[in-house]
Amino acid sequence: MDKLVIEGGAKLQGIVEISGSKNASLPVLAATLLTAEESIVENVPALNDVQTLSQLLRSLGSQITRDEGVFLISNQDIHSVEAEYDIVRKMRASVLVLGPLVARFGKARVSLPGGCAIGARPIDMHLRGLEQMGAKVVLEHGYVEATAPEGGLVGTRIVFEIPSVGATENLMMAACLASGTTVIENAACEPEIEELARALSSMGAKIQGAGTNVIQIDGVSSLSGLQHCVEADRIEGATFVAIAAATQGDLLIKNIQLNHLENILMRFQEAGCEISPEGANALRVRGPEKLKNIDIQTAPYPGFPTDMQAQFMACMCLADGISHIEEDIWENRFMHTPELVRMGADISMNGNLAVVRGVSKLTGASVMATDLRASAGLIIAALAAEGVSEILRIYHLDRGYVKIEEKLSNLGACIKRVKQDGSSVVIQPHIVMPAEAGI
Ligand code: EPZ
Repeated sequence: MDKLVIEGGAKLQGIVEISGSKNASLPVLAATLLTAEESIVENVPALNDVQTLSQLLRSLGSQITRDEGVFLISNQDIHSVEAEYDIVRKMRASVLVLGPLVARFGKARVSLPGGCAIGARPIDMHLRGLEQMGAKVVLEHGYVEATAPEGGLVGTRIVFEIPSVGATENLMMAACLASGTTVIENAACEPEIEELARALSSMGAKIQGAGTNVIQIDGVSSLSGLQHCVEADRIEGATFVAIAAATQGDLLIKNIQLNHLENILMRFQEAGCEISPEGANALRVRGPEKLKNIDIQTAPYPGFPTDMQAQFMACMCLADGISHIEEDIWENRFMHTPELVRMGADISMNGNLAVVRGVSKLTGASVMATDLRASAGLIIAALAAEGVSEILRIYHLDRGYVKIEEKLSNLGACIKRVKQDGSSVVIQPHIVMPAEAGI
């Protein structure tokens, strides 16, 4: 397994460009299953999770041609409606094919994803919603088999007990081809939902209210090819804000949607970062000499995202005072804390609350990444730490961050990837200072 070796202490400076969003790409790619016509999706990030979904789509019969970030997808010859365990176990978002398959083909058999490092991650709300639309759902042999009634799924009113991003996406896609109107109440409001709705609308779907907690979908009998350009990854963008914050850095972060980051930027500003928009979709972030302690509580959008909790915690490890970090989305998303403690952080846990007492310095250590965002948190700590750190199990990182070591190296980080066979990947940094870019 590859590892990252980082020598901390550099104040990162320069320009970084944010890639297309992982969590927007996955549902948009799954949505192409709703039509037999050719779809085109642009700005798809080169990530392992995208590769896994492509593998799944191909196993169903999708023809996918890929030119850099542009995907041409034809789902004319779908010959299977089964998502196998071997693929689903690699990536839970595979379950997003369920809604489109049942809606278009009347049937789907999808392996139950099972739990993962961050929590149990049930899909009961996805299944209950499909049942409410008339599907018969059977759980057997580790698979969920969903069958639409004769004549197809039927629009209905679905009220979620908690907002779920994946359930909102799955049911919104299913409802596009259901007969009549579906209303999803207490829907998730994440930007990725709004983006999926835009992609579905490009196919002729009739959706109102996406991005609010009540979404109405008027079903249509068929959809045309999807055309969409994936927006920038807001969590990758925010991760670079955290990197500037922790390293006393000075970064120009390009290609981000500022309005999707409001809550996060406010927290970093309160923590002492100087943050200024540079035009419509770029941001300059300067980290302070010493961060201030800030409390956060993760919440569905527009609250502070759970996907930034580990990165924020890494910053707070070096803050001037005590911060309280409450994780309210996933029941087990604190696996990075013992690793941060190994680097000298002072963190005590009490259920879903972490109490982080800022220390004057972190020291490099060998640490283990346990999930995607935990990996990002450990990278931030390693960049800010004194000495050398090794981050093991970075395959998690490759699921969600495009060329992170290259991007960091171009900002002046001392970082290298060491391959499983012991060989290192040497990166020739290309550093452009914000000042040289006319900023
Ligand atoms: C999405 O996961 C993201 N993944 C996650 O990002 C993110 O952490 C999460 O939303 C919350 O923002 C993708 O978009 C691919 P949920 P999802 O359904 O859809 C409970 C990352 O690092 N729940 O909104 O699976 C669930 O257990 C990843 O990029 C049920 O109880 O999340 C959780 O507590 C990790 N029953 C809460 O809802 C259900 O049927 C929110 O989960 C569904 C969810």
